[in-house]
Amino acid sequence: MEIILVEDAVEGGRCVADLVAETLSSAGSGGATLGLATGSSPLAAYSEMIARFERGEMSFAQARAFLLDEYVALPREHEQSYWSFIRENLTRHIDIPDDQVFSPDGEAEDPVAEAARYDAAIRAAGGVDLQILGIGSNGHIGFNEPSSSLVSRTRVKTLTQQTIADNARFFDSPDEVPVHVLTQGLGTIMEARRIVLTATGASKAGAVAATIEGPLGAHCPATVLQMHPAVTIVVDREAASELTDREYYRFIQQQKRRLEH
Ligand code: F6R
Repeated sequence: MEIILVEDAVEGGRCVADLVAETLSSAGSGGATLGLATGSSPLAAYSEMIARFERGEMSFAQARAFLLDEYVALPREHEQSYWSFIRENLTRHIDIPDDQVFSPDGEAEDPVAEAARYDAAIRAAGGVDLQILGIGSNGHIGFNEPSSSLVSRTRVKTLTQQTIADNARFFDSPDEVPVHVLTQGLGTIMEARRIVLTATGASKAGAVAATIEGPLGAHCPATVLQMHPAVTIVVDREAASELTDREYYRFIQQQKRRLEH
C-alpha cells in the first residue's frame, strides 16, 4: 500500500485528483472508467476535479463512472440519494455524459436481481480503472459492513446502527436514514485496477490504523485492501493519528519525492 500523509482535506483532494488525471490520460480510446464514492470524504477531490475541468486541464468526455452504492427504496430524485449526490457534487459540473454515470437502482422491484445486474454491468464495461473510496468509522468500504464476506459481490446489505447514526447528519432525523442499501461487494471493489482511499478527521483514525496495520479480517472490511496490488491511502494528520508506523510512511514519502526530483 502507498500511504500519503497530507496536511488537510484540500491537499488530499489534490492527490486524489492527480490519480484521476493519470487514469484519464492513460486510458485508451475507449476512455477511462471511474468508480465513485459518495459521502463527505471525496468532496475535496471532486471540487479539485471540477476546478481542473473548468481550467481546461481535465476532460471527462470519454469517461464513464460507476457509483459504489445506493439506498434501497429512496427515490432517485431524493436529495440524499447517491444518484442525486454525485450529480450535485460532481457530474453536473463536468463534461461526463449523463448517460455514462451508472448507479444501482435503489427503487428496483427486485433488489437482488438489480444487484446482480449492476455487478455484471461493471464487468461488461471492462471493469473500473480507478476506484475512489471513503471509509466508515467502523471500517466499511462501500456499505460492506463488518462481517461482510471478503469476496462478496454487489448485493443488498443492512446498515449497522453506527452507520445509520453517522449518516443521520444528512437527513432530518436518524429515523429517515434508509436501513437497506445496494452496495458493490468487496470482491467487486477489489477488481478495480487501482484504488485510492481518502480519509480525514479523528473519527476515522481507528479504522485507518486497522486497515493499514491490523490483521486481515471481516471485522474491518477495508483490511481486504491489503490484498490489492495498487492501493493508495491518502490521510490527513488526524486520520493518521493512530498509525504506529506513521514516521516510516512519512520517510517513504520523502524518499519517493527525492527520487522524483
Ligand atoms: C459512500 C460509501 C461509504 C462512505 C463512508 C464514509 O458511497 O460507500 O463507504 O465512503 O461511509 O462516509 P463519509 O465520507 O461521509 O465519512
